[in-house]
Order: sequence, then structure tokens, then C-alpha cells
Amino acid sequence: MPAIFVTRRIPERGLNMLRVAFGPENVRVAPQDGVIERKDLVEGVRGVDALLCILTDSIDAEVMDAAGPQLKIIANYAVGYNNIDVAAATQRRIPVTNTPGVLTETTADLAWALLMAAARRLGESERLLRAGRWAGWGPMLFLGVDIHGKTLGIYGMGRIGQAMARRAKGFDMRVIYHDQTPIAQELEQQLNAAYVDKAALLAESDFLSIHCPLTPETRHAFGEAEFKAMKPTAVIINSARGPIIDEKALAHALNNNVIFAAGLDVFEDEPAIHPDLLECQNAVLIPHLGSASQETRGRMAEIAAANILARLNGQTPPACVNPEILQ
Ligand code: DGY
Repeated sequence: MPAIFVTRRIPERGLNMLRVAFGPENVRVAPQDGVIERKDLVEGVRGVDALLCILTDSIDAEVMDAAGPQLKIIANYAVGYNNIDVAAATQRRIPVTNTPGVLTETTADLAWALLMAAARRLGESERLLRAGRWAGWGPMLFLGVDIHGKTLGIYGMGRIGQAMARRAKGFDMRVIYHDQTPIAQELEQQLNAAYVDKAALLAESDFLSIHCPLTPETRHAFGEAEFKAMKPTAVIINSARGPIIDEKALAHALNNNVIFAAGLDVFEDEPAIHPDLLECQNAVLIPHLGSASQETRGRMAEIAAANILARLNGQTPPACVNPEILQ
């Protein structure tokens, strides 16, 4: 029977699929409740046929070689897979899989929650209230910015960007977007979204929500120059990957009223948060919760398991990011 190593406990639904198929004794879940230590990761993969990992695990050539030549799949429990050296996996002819689709709507919900919280200053006002410092209703208390009727800019118009755009209809918003290439015209019409270049996206967005993958091209795509090019009333939202924003530059922009507010689910060096950002009262900061609903995390576990089941049964995994090696 093949052996499977899971780097951290995930919802039982997925683990049970693997246990039923391969026997409970062949599915080993790392015991720690936290990010697995590098040495435990390297030790844990030795001799396994399948690795089920999470986005905080750095899966590079060293890990792949520690596993050995019988490693048949690296199944990431996330849609983003920048934690995996896909080129190294492809070189070794190991398929890498992710969990697309199931977390689209949940992540868009969360991005909207951040947008609304940042626009209406929910973080700082709740902190004041809980601290017992609310002196009653005030005409000038925590004035935020309106959402309805404004312009939503989307950077990265993939599945999650599109789900974000759909939600804007209920707020009567104008939607503009930027991506490497425009989406199909029919889809643009359905979403009521117009393609613009990055300069226009920065200049015209009241809310700018990031939904692109982290790649060498998108690393620090938003820094000092970009914040200066935005409206002083603008709100930036990031539920994609932290390093797409230069956090130090963002903290400077927030502290100096270059832009109005930010809502961040992801950070450059998770779980560390840039100290300057922690000082920004106009930043809503939450700990990478994009896909964190009970339903969606369960579905992600099922897809990660389904990818492994397919591969170990000699079939094509449903969500392979380097399918060229399977041909
Ligand atoms: C993903 O799947 O990439 C998300 O960031 C998880 O929340």
C-alpha cells in the first residue's frame, strides 16, 4: 500500500477518504498543531508516495529529494501554490495539485468583508468600544467612506476576481479591472466590468482589491509609487498573497494619508506582521482567513484527497498545475 504524509491536520472528510482507500496505518498526519518544522518535514516525507501539504510548507527540491523517487504527487491544500517549487517538481516528473474552484466564493466573501470593514472603520471603532472609551453617538465619530455607487478596481480577474466583481452589482458599483490579458468580452458584459491599464486602475479605483497569484512579476506590484498614484480616499484590499504589497510602503501610505485605509488577510512574512503596519489604525488586519469557512475547508480537504486518490490509482488528478508531465 502507498504511504501518505500529511504535514498538518486538515478536516477529517479528506483524511477519511485517504484512510478508507489506503488503510489508516498508511496515512500519517504530522502530530504538531502548528507549522511543521523543516527537519520534521524532511524526515516525514522519506519514502512516501504522496505528500499532502499546506501553504506554509516550503516544498523545494531538498524536500522532494528527501522523499525519494517513489514520490508520485504533491497535493497542496490551497489554491495558491507559490510555496512549492513547481519547476523542481516538473523536473522530477512529480505532479503538483491544488484546490481551485471550491474556495472562490468564500474568499470573495472575505475580501468583501475586509472592504466593508476598512471603508467603515469597523476595526478601530470596535477597539474603542471594547476598551470602554465610547462616549456616545457623535456627529464626527468614525466617519468612513461610502461603498455604494463607487468604483471597484480588481487586480487579477481570475475566478476570485470575478466573484468579487459579481458582488459589486448589489452595491451599484462601476467595476474596472487589470490583468495580463482581458477576459472574454461576453464575461466582461456579464460582470459589467471594463478592462483598464494599471495606471487607470490606480487612478480611478475607490476600492482596489488584489486577486492575482504571487509570481516574480507580481511581487511588490503595489509599492510607494502605486500608493501615490491612488486616490487619497482609496481603500486597498489584499486577500491574495502578502508579498504582492510592499508592506513598509503601505504602512507609510496609511500613516501619511496617502490612501484612506487597507484591509489585509495576507502578509509578506506570515505570521510576522510588519511593526509599522501594526501601528496603522486604518488597517484591518486578519490572519489569512480567505478560505476559512467550515464548508469550504472541508471541500478543500476532499479535493486534496481526490487528487491523491486519482494519482495513486493511475488516473489524472482533477487539479494538476503541471499537467504537461502527465502527457
Ligand atoms: C489559498 O488556498 O491559496 C488560500 O490562500 C487559503 O486560504
